[in-house]
Amino acid sequence: MKIGIFDSGLGGLFTMRRIVSRLPRYDYVYLGDTKRIPYGDRSRETVYRFLEEAVDFLFRRDCGLVVVACNTASAEALRRIQTEYLPRHYPDRKVLGVIIPAAEQAVKNPGAARIGILATRGTVRSGTFAKEVRKLRRGARVFQNAAPLLVPLIERRAPAREIRPALQSYLQPLLRKRIDTLILGCTHYAIIKRQAKAICGPQIRIIAQDEILPAKLAAYLRRHPEVETRLGKGHSRRFLVTDLMDATKILAQKWFQGPVAFTIVRLPEQAG
Ligand code: DGL
Repeated sequence: MKIGIFDSGLGGLFTMRRIVSRLPRYDYVYLGDTKRIPYGDRSRETVYRFLEEAVDFLFRRDCGLVVVACNTASAEALRRIQTEYLPRHYPDRKVLGVIIPAAEQAVKNPGAARIGILATRGTVRSGTFAKEVRKLRRGARVFQNAAPLLVPLIERRAPAREIRPALQSYLQPLLRKRIDTLILGCTHYAIIKRQAKAICGPQIRIIAQDEILPAKLAAYLRRHPEVETRLGKGHSRRFLVTDLMDATKILAQKWFQGPVAFTIVRLPEQAG
């Protein structure tokens, strides 16, 4: 069986390259729903339906474990997938998200007391990050801001001079709250973490998911030999997208240091 990695777009590829380099022997299938991105501005019900379609698609491609790299889908729909969909349809498969690992990392530093979250509108609206952070650190002050313009800018490879003013204006309200930790709560924001660091300065600790997920996944596999032993170790990688833009090809080639062969697929699968 394979490890599936799902994102609404190309941001998850940035996380995947770090996962693959930490855990290279497994077989991977990436699925990016590039045709229907952004998820961040959609209703909760739609995000749930899209995630269910994606998870089902990956399970049919022999994934035993799916990592939902997309924060919006993790925040708005993962719990329902885990508690309703899996027990009914795939009781022996696993779906993991990214919110709890990021929240755990944010509170790791004993000094973390004022935590900022930059995310999509959907993730902010769900309140999931704030809830998970407060569960782990009672009394933490959590401040959120939605950054709806960033994902489209990143997906089309906008230059830094276009991204920087948008990023700055989204970070300002969080900086005014004197945050000590910033969670980049969207797969895509890890791609611009250097710019975020430059704006925030050295005092603010930045949590970028591409840096934390590989170790979290490795730890999960160590704790769950019943999952790990079922995973194939053939070093294979497949890259599936629902639409293919030039920007995706260029960025994937840069991140994986060579051309990436994408296959365009249809979601939901059964649609004619
Ligand atoms: N991949 C999504 C996330 O991590 C962001 C893009 C979107 O809005 O679909 O939240």
